[in-house]
Amino acid sequence: MITPRFTRAALEELGIDPDAVPRHVALVMDGNGRWAQQRGLKRTEGHLRGEDALFECVEAALELGVEWITVYAFSTENWKRPKAEVKFLINFNRETIRRRRDELHARGVRIRFIGRRNWRVPKSLLRDMEAATELTERNRRLTFTIAFNYGGRAEIIDAVRVALADGIEPDRLDERSFGRYLYDPEMPDPDLVVRTSGENRLSNFLLWQAAYSEFLFLDILWPDFTRQTLYEAVREFQRRSRRFGGI
Ligand code: IPE
Ligand code: IPE
Ligand code: MG
Repeated sequence: MITPRFTRAALEELGIDPDAVPRHVALVMDGNGRWAQQRGLKRTEGHLRGEDALFECVEAALELGVEWITVYAFSTENWKRPKAEVKFLINFNRETIRRRRDELHARGVRIRFIGRRNWRVPKSLLRDMEAATELTERNRRLTFTIAFNYGGRAEIIDAVRVALADGIEPDRLDERSFGRYLYDPEMPDPDLVVRTSGENRLSNFLLWQAAYSEFLFLDILWPDFTRQTLYEAVREFQRRSRRFGGI
């Protein structure tokens, strides 16, 4: 099997408790532009380098047995960027999906997308997203969700719209039933949300789902993210005490 999962002993060797690996890790991949600028390169070079970091992160998740990884690739606010950068990011996401989809499939990874579909996203990109989703839909080892044209507020509004169109009775709407209207009703809440680049904010990522997530803000820039970074993030997660409002 490609990218074997670590044994319990190997996890313990890394200082990771095999029984407390987070089920869902969500990541805000931030700092690509600054990474490039620090080196006198164009911002787009940083995005290109970010791809390696992303797939190292996926490999590390497979090793650790993390079942869900969700990454913020393009926000509903990122359309504000210069046209050339937006165009680059759209093409880059399309090429990444096309290039990586088979190796992810070979590793037992299920690819999914969350985000607003019916607004601004080119049809050809939607087709590539659907093809990757369909190809990998039976895989169970890791669900890798790409948040593209995603905003937490847009997701909540879209969910309310579908609920209303569904004719839901106000009394029947509760936290559980509302969850069924989100972009991916099967996605568990993230246990851990990691953001790189030293910014301490959510930037509209998973607003509903992150209600009780642990947050980890790292100073490194996204292209410098390695497998070791994910191992360390999991160790830090295991040092936290989650109470969910209890004692
Ligand atoms: C994150 O890196 C990638 C996307 C938002 C698409 P940035 O492009 O935001 O890099 P910085 O934050 O400007 O350094
Ligand atoms: C968040 O990063 C979005 C993604 C990583 C895709 P931004 O760089 O867009 O966030 P702000 O503008 O610094 O809040
Ligand atoms: Mg940024």
